Amino acid sequence: MDINQSLALLAGLSPAQFMRQYWQKKPLLVRQAIPGFQPLLSRAALVKLATFEHVESRLIVQQPKGWRMKQGPIAARSLPPLSKDGWTLLVQGVDMHDAGAHALLQQFRFAPDARLDDLMISFATTGGGVGPHFDSYDVFLLQASGRRRWRIGQQKDLTLQQGVPLKILQNFEPDQEFLLEAGDMLYLPPGYAHDGVAEAAIGSDGKAADCMTYSVGFRVPIRNVLAAELLHRLAEFSEDAVDTAPVEGRRRAAPLARLYRDPGQPATATPAALPAALVTFAEQAVVQALKDPLAISCALGECMTEPKPSVLFDEPLQAWAPDAAKAHQTSIRLDARTRMLYDSDHVFINGESYRAKGADATLMRRLADQRGLSAHELSKASVSAIALLGEWHDAGWLQQERHGLPGANT
Ligand code: SIN
Ligand code: CO
Repeated sequence: MDINQSLALLAGLSPAQFMRQYWQKKPLLVRQAIPGFQPLLSRAALVKLATFEHVESRLIVQQPKGWRMKQGPIAARSLPPLSKDGWTLLVQGVDMHDAGAHALLQQFRFAPDARLDDLMISFATTGGGVGPHFDSYDVFLLQASGRRRWRIGQQKDLTLQQGVPLKILQNFEPDQEFLLEAGDMLYLPPGYAHDGVAEAAIGSDGKAADCMTYSVGFRVPIRNVLAAELLHRLAEFSEDAVDTAPVEGRRRAAPLARLYRDPGQPATATPAALPAALVTFAEQAVVQALKDPLAISCALGECMTEPKPSVLFDEPLQAWAPDAAKAHQTSIRLDARTRMLYDSDHVFINGESYRAKGADATLMRRLADQRGLSAHELSKASVSAIALLGEWHDAGWLQQERHGLPGANT
């Protein structure tokens, strides 16, 4: 992506300007961000997705006695009738299940992949919404069809109502209001109060248009949660290093050295007191785990590419063809569910890290940035890189496309 090119998607700003002036700073309303935008999924397709166990979904209904929320999977028959106002169905991670939704998300890759999360789609009947709230992440709210009225506010008071099944602001004080039509988009930075309510609308075909809103959401690492995850992985790395280090010519002599020992411990009359030597041992254990600065980046890459627990990869339809890859006859594409990142020494894919050097590292980084390699690029991979790509193919993490062969799929 040319980050200096002006985009209709960003109201004529370039990604570089948007990131400098708006990202994490202030809202941006974009009229006709995607002119003539047509919904990528029908309401029926969205309802079908919400019935699956491995797809995250929610049904929110406003009733005279308050809000009701049901977590998915949601059977189509348990949805309120379309004639009933004030309900909404939200489906998370649609980009993992629909090629068009995945392609739409790619337009937002001017922000790092480590931050981009997913595309959520909501359908709402008139008056439907999730109530006034704030999100802890940046969000682009694209109106895909119908109309939604957004009220937003830069309030400091983010106290939430007690005893409700969703996060609703206790005192919502909007200071701006926008009616979004199909193709319009609103960007909000984290912590900005907002409330979107569906309005009745007529589509270009003269029929009632469904209110569908697409939210491009971002991931926000939380300091203590990330620290817990990293420390866990770092501790494993440093233990692995000891495990494989020969000690006086004999492997696996090390575990004893990792055990806490206290030959100097005197008899105690205060048995509940924590021994000072144990505190020192604990400090040293943490210092040891943090000793290698490169390991932090490695643990971070693994943790940021770890698929969500609900993610399932499909078995490949064809066998991996390494000879065709070498002979310019195969291109590859990462599966929509695959998360791939890199740092200066490693590539990370779906929670695993690999050390990469030289031409193969350049190629793997290109695969991560482009989410694919052309037949020409792939033909330059070393035999061991092709073998590794074959493992990823067999795990369903990438797909191959054969070219120029009888019966090939392109
Ligand atoms: C919605 O699509 O109804 C909610 C999106 C949001 O407020 O973040
Ligand atoms: Co929100």
